[in-house]
Amino acid sequence: MEATIVQDKTKHYPVLLKDIISIITPQYGGTFIDCTFGQGGYTREILKNKGNKVIGIDRDSDSLKIAKKVEKEFPDRFIFKNLNFGKLGNLKLKNENVRGVLFDLGYSFTQIKDPKKGLSFNSSGSLDMRMGLNEFSAKETVNKLDGKSLVKIFKSFGDESDAKLIVKNILKERLLKEIDTSQLVRIIEKSKKRNSKKIHSATKVFQAIRIFVNKEISELIHGMIHAAKVLKKDGLLIVVTFNSLEDKIVKYFFRSLSEHKSVSRYQPKEMQEEILFKLNQKKPIVPSNRELKENYPSRSAKLRCLIKKENFHDFKTDILDKFSDLIEIENLGLNL
Ligand SMILES: C[S@@+](CC[C@H](N)C(=O)[O-])C[C@H]1O[C@@H](n2cnc3c(N)ncnc32)[C@H](O)[C@@H]1O
Repeated sequence: MEATIVQDKTKHYPVLLKDIISIITPQYGGTFIDCTFGQGGYTREILKNKGNKVIGIDRDSDSLKIAKKVEKEFPDRFIFKNLNFGKLGNLKLKNENVRGVLFDLGYSFTQIKDPKKGLSFNSSGSLDMRMGLNEFSAKETVNKLDGKSLVKIFKSFGDESDAKLIVKNILKERLLKEIDTSQLVRIIEKSKKRNSKKIHSATKVFQAIRIFVNKEISELIHGMIHAAKVLKKDGLLIVVTFNSLEDKIVKYFFRSLSEHKSVSRYQPKEMQEEILFKLNQKKPIVPSNRELKENYPSRSAKLRCLIKKENFHDFKTDILDKFSDLIEIENLGLNL
C-alpha cells in the first residue's frame, strides 16, 4: 500500500511533475526552457540529469530568490530571466539545442496566498493581481475602465452571465468610493441573480480580471509561437492549463499544427508544405486520483504536448487571427 503524503498546506507543489518527467526523459541531454519557473519544481527535477541545461523564465521577481539558490546548486547549467514568456523571442537561442519548452500556466499557490499580490477574493490585501512586469493593476481596471469594456472582460474571460448587472453596480459604487477587494466581492454577491453552490460567486470575475491585467491570452499565444520556433527536431512543447479558455487555445494551436500542412520558409522547396508537428497524445493528461488527493490545486490541470518533427524555425499559423477578438479585449487596457 502506498503511504499518503501529508502535504504542507502553505507550499506550492508542482502539478503533473511525474508525467512531465516521463514525457521528456527520452529527450534528456539538451536545453529545456521552463517558461513558468515559479518555485523551480520542474526545473530542479530536469536538472537532476547532468546532461541537461535549463533556462528558467518568470515574470514575478519574487522567483529571483529561488532562482539564485538553483544557480548555486547547478552552476553552469541554469540561468534565470525575469521576463514575460510572450517575449521568449528576445532571447538569443540560436546555438541552444532546445529539447523542450514547458508552460505551467496561471499562478502558484504561494502567489495566491500572498496578500501583496491581491489575486484572491479572500485576500486581505489591495486589489492588485499583477504577477510582474505589468502595465496596470486590477484596481485601476475596476475603477477606471469604461462599463462596456468591463462587461466584455467579465463575459469573455470569466464567462460571467451576470456581467452587465455587476458592472452597473460597480459604476454606481465607484462614484462614491474607490473599489477594493472586499467591496468588489460584496458588489458581485449583491448583483448575482443566482449563487452557485460549487464555486464562490466572485470566482469568475476575479479570474477575468486576472487574465486581463496579466494579458494572459496574448502571452500564451505569443509564448507558444516562439516556443514552437526555437525547438529543435523531436523537441517537445508542453503546456499545462488550468481553465477552459486556456485549454481551448492550446488545443486549437496543437491540433491546427499537427493536422494541417505548414509552410516552413527556411526549408528546401520539396519540404515546404508538410505537417511539421505531431501530437504526443490525443487526449490531455490529467492528474491521477492520488495526485488529486495530495494536491488539491491540481484539480483542473490538463497537460498537452506537441512534438516538432523537423529542424526549421519559421512557420505559418492562423492562431493570432483565430483569437483576435480576445486579443482586442486585452488591448482595451491600453486606454488605462
Ligand atoms: C503555476 S506557477 C509555476 C510553478 C512551477 N512549475 C513550479 O513547479 O514551481 C506559474 C508561474 O508562471 C509565472 N507566469 C505566469 N505568466 C507568465 C508569463 N506570461 N511570463 C512569465 N512568467 C509567467 C507566474 O509568475 C508563476 O510563478
